[in-house]
Amino acid sequence: MEKIPAHIAIIMDGNGRWAKAQGKERYEGHIEGVASVKACIKAARKHGVRYLTLYAFSTENWGRPQAEVEALMQLFCKSVTKETPELIEQGVQVRFIGRRDRFSEEVRERLLHIESSTAEGDKLTLVLAFDYSSRDELVRAIRKVAERVQNGELKAEEIDDAVISAHLDTADMPDPDLVIRTSGECRLSNFMLWQASYAEMYFPQTMWPDFREEAFAKALEVYAERDRRYGLL
Ligand code: FPP
Repeated sequence: MEKIPAHIAIIMDGNGRWAKAQGKERYEGHIEGVASVKACIKAARKHGVRYLTLYAFSTENWGRPQAEVEALMQLFCKSVTKETPELIEQGVQVRFIGRRDRFSEEVRERLLHIESSTAEGDKLTLVLAFDYSSRDELVRAIRKVAERVQNGELKAEEIDDAVISAHLDTADMPDPDLVIRTSGECRLSNFMLWQASYAEMYFPQTMWPDFREEAFAKALEVYAERDRRYGLL
C-alpha cells in the first residue's frame, strides 16, 4: 500500500531565479508561486495528506529590499483572503505560525479572521509560516516554559520533549514526515528544526513556480520508497 505522509512541510524556494530565467521581475516569480501554492493544496487534499505547512515569509525576509517585502506582504494577504471562500468550501483549515507582533493591526486582524472563518475545516490543515523562524519559535517557547517554572506551575525536571513541543507554535500538530525544499538548495534555513527531527528530506531541482501537481505526486513517490527507522534497526 502506498505510504502517504500525514504532514508535508515545504520551503518554497526559487521564485526569483525562475523569474530571472524568464527575463521577468522577481515579483512575477512570487505571483506564479501562488499558483503552485494552490496546486499543492489541491494535490494534498486529493492524496489524503492531513497537514501541509508552507514557509511563506521568514523572520530573515524582512531584510530584503523594502519594495519586495511590501509586495510579498500584499501578495500573501491578498491571495489568502481571496482564496478563503474556496478553502472553506474545500474543508481546509488555515493556521498561521510565527510572530505576529511585527505586522500592522490590519494584517493581524486579517490573519485572525482567516483562522476563525476556516476553523471548521476538517479535510486538510494548511499551516502558513509567516514571519516564522525555528530559532525565534524556540526562544519564544523556552521563555513561556521558563515563566511557568518561575510561577511554580512546572518543575525544571518536568521539562521534557512533550513540554517543549506543547509550547511551540505547532503545539497539537503532528511533526512533519516529509520536508521538501525546491530549487535544489539543500538546507533547512531555520525552518522547523525541532519538528523535523525525524522527517525525510527531499530537495528537488524544480523551482517553486514549476512545482505543481505532477511534482507533488513525484515527492509522494519518493517518500513512499524511503525506509524510516527513527534510530532503530
Ligand atoms: C522564495 O523564493 C519564496 C519566497 C520568499 C516567498 C514565497 C511566497 C509565495 C509563493 C507567495 C505567497 C504565499 C502564499 C502561501 C499565498 P526566492 O525569492 O527566495 O527565490 P530565489 O532564491 O530564486 O531568489
